[in-house]
Amino acid sequence: MLEFAGRTAFVTGGANGIGLGLARALLAQGCKVAIADIREDALAAALKTLDNQAVTAVHVDVASRAGFAQAADRAEAALGPVSLLFNNAGINLFQTIYESSYDDWDWVMGVNLHGVINGIMTFAPRMKEAGLGGHIVNTASMASFLCGGAPGIYNTTKFAVRGMSESLRYSLAPHGIGVSVLCPGLVKSHIYASDEVRPTGLSADAKPVDGAAVERLAQLHQFGMEPDVIAARTLEAMRENRFHIFPHPEFRDELATVFEEILADFRDYPQDVGFDQRVGFEKMRRESYARARQAARERA
Ligand code: NAI
Repeated sequence: MLEFAGRTAFVTGGANGIGLGLARALLAQGCKVAIADIREDALAAALKTLDNQAVTAVHVDVASRAGFAQAADRAEAALGPVSLLFNNAGINLFQTIYESSYDDWDWVMGVNLHGVINGIMTFAPRMKEAGLGGHIVNTASMASFLCGGAPGIYNTTKFAVRGMSESLRYSLAPHGIGVSVLCPGLVKSHIYASDEVRPTGLSADAKPVDGAAVERLAQLHQFGMEPDVIAARTLEAMRENRFHIFPHPEFRDELATVFEEILADFRDYPQDVGFDQRVGFEKMRRESYARARQAARERA
């Protein structure tokens, strides 16, 4: 069972929304917490609300490899080796793929996918080396399973984060490090205001911000789940070493429908040349994958 007290946590996107909820929950469990974010004003405001606790703020753009490594150094110099990592920072862009520019791709992929990659490439070797075990939670979304026509780039990044997290889980389990993917539905957060943190260097081809649409999203997000509720459900799942963290139970039926629709696309084709040999190979692979899933679940 994962013990939280005394561990150091690093939470990206920690100045707002889910990240700030995670920081509060971790502090309440006796962790030391580094909140890392691109918004310096929000970091300062968050620190005030977390006054007198074992917390430090680190300015970072998660899309920057060098910047991430420097932020990790600063956090570990202040709070000791990180053994709980939350790759949570993310932005959204509500438009279809065919309406999008390369700048749109570079921004959303840079934060939502490369930000998580940078977190893992920075911290996974350090966590392994420190030998303290621990846990990594990557924030994806229900949009890592469910797609609409928009937001296409967001869907792309979140599907990738889910796949990356699952593969990482099997490779880190032998080192006592768990990996989970957090898949929330609607959250009471500021994600609708993502345009505020879009870098100017990736804004030349940006569509003009639709103020009315942003206002509609702001209204909708008022009914999102409270970050503190998501954080409590996340820590509970980490203790149980569950891979998928689904804080919103209302998505279960839709997911079942989608899985049924996926299976309905299979056909019983006649056996082609090489079928038996392939099935023999797949049997070995399948058994080894099943063992990896079991071993990851059994991590102490
Ligand atoms: P939020 O906007 O309240 O918090 C995200 C934080 O990430 C902000 O403080 C922002 O300044 C920071 N950030 C943005 N770009 C950054 C960068 N390049 N480097 C460092 N920090 C950066 O939004 P929320 O909802 O708390 O988002 C957290 C995660 O949850 C994201 O990955 C998002 O995709 C995911 N999510 C959100 C949902 C929602 O309904 N709000 C639903 C499902 C998933």
